[in-house]
Amino acid sequence: MTSDRLLVIGGTGLVGQPVACALRGEGYTVRLLVRDARRARALLGEGYELVEGDVTDGTAVERALDGCAAVYVSLRAAGTPQEMERVEHQGVVRVAAAARRIGIARLMYVSGSFVGEPLAAGAPGDQAKRRAEEAIRTSGVPYTIFRPTYFMDTLPRHIQGRFAVVLGRQRQALRMVAATDFAAMVVRAWRVPQAAGCALYIQGPEAITIPDALRQYCRLVEPGKRAVTVPLGIMAAVDSLLAGGKLRHTLDVMRLLQRVGEPGDAGEANRLLGAPTTTVREWCERRRAARQGVHVAENGQRRPT
Ligand SMILES: NC(=O)c1ccc[n+]([C@@H]2O[C@H](COP(=O)([O-])OP(=O)(O)OC[C@H]3O[C@@H](n4cnc5c(N)ncnc54)[C@H](OP(=O)(O)O)[C@@H]3O)[C@@H](O)[C@H]2O)c1
Repeated sequence: MTSDRLLVIGGTGLVGQPVACALRGEGYTVRLLVRDARRARALLGEGYELVEGDVTDGTAVERALDGCAAVYVSLRAAGTPQEMERVEHQGVVRVAAAARRIGIARLMYVSGSFVGEPLAAGAPGDQAKRRAEEAIRTSGVPYTIFRPTYFMDTLPRHIQGRFAVVLGRQRQALRMVAATDFAAMVVRAWRVPQAAGCALYIQGPEAITIPDALRQYCRLVEPGKRAVTVPLGIMAAVDSLLAGGKLRHTLDVMRLLQRVGEPGDAGEANRLLGAPTTTVREWCERRRAARQGVHVAENGQRRPT
C-alpha cells in the first residue's frame, strides 16, 4: 500500500477513467476534480476523493491539488478552437501554475500525436494542445507528456445508427492502443524517474487501418452494423451547419491521419514504461464478453462480472 495521493483531472472521460481506476488498483489514494460529483460517483463508484470544480477555475484547481504528490490531466473540450483554448490551454496553465506553487512532483498530460509536427501547426485544436505543452514545459514542474495516436476505446464512438462511420479515406495503418494498457503505462510513468522531462509517443502492438479495426469491432461486438466512409469535406459541412463546429478538432486529426499517417516513434515510451500488448481483436473480445456479463482477464480466464 502506498501513501501517495494523486489528482486525476478528466477522470470521468474515456481515457481518464481507466487511469483513475488503475492508480486506485495499485493502492494510491486517487482524488478527482470533477464538474458533477454525483455523475462521477455513478460512473466510477465509491473509493475516490471527489473535489467539485472546473479546470478553468484556479481556486478549484488549487483546492484539488492541495495534499497531492502528482497530477494526471486528460481533458477534452468541445472541439471548437475557442473551447479548446479555454479548457485545454487555459485549464492546463492553471494546473501548471498551482502545481508549481504547491510543489507537485509530477504533472502528467495527455496531448495528441500531431502536436509536435510542423504539418499540424495550422490546426487550431493542436495549437491549444501545443500551448498547453509549452505551459507545462516552462512551469518548472517535472512533467511527462503522452502523445497517443488513437485509443481502441474510441471505436464505439464511430457507431451512428446502423453504421460505423469512418471519417475520410483512412488507408494508412496506425498502432491503436487500449486505454487499459495506457493506464498501466501512466502508473509506471509516475514510478519511473526517467519518465520525467519526456514527451512520449504512445502506440499499440499492431498496425491496422481504422476501417479494418471498425470491421472487426462490428463483427465481434456489434453484428449488423456496417462500416461506411464519409468524405471529410461533407462531414466538415455537416459539422459547421448542424453541430456548431464541435467536430473540428477530430476532423483536423482525421485529415492529418489520412494525408500523412501516424507520426512519432513509441520506442522510448515502450522502453521506459513497458509496451502495450492488447490487439484490436483482444480488445473487441473483452468488450463483447463485458456486454455478455463476463470478465476476461489478461491471461484469457473468464469469470462472471
Ligand atoms: N480518444 C482518442 O483516441 C484520443 C487520441 C489521442 C489523444 N486523445 C486525447 O485524450 C484526451 C482525453 O480524451 P477522451 O476521449 O478521454 O475525452 P472525454 O471522454 O470527452 O473526456 C474528457 C474529460 O475532460 C473533462 N472536462 C472537460 N471539460 C472540463 C472542464 N472545463 N473542467 C474539468 N473537466 C473537464 C470531462 O469531464 P465531464 O465528465 O465533466 O464532461 C471528461 O472527464 C483529449 O485531450 C484527447 O485529445 C484522445
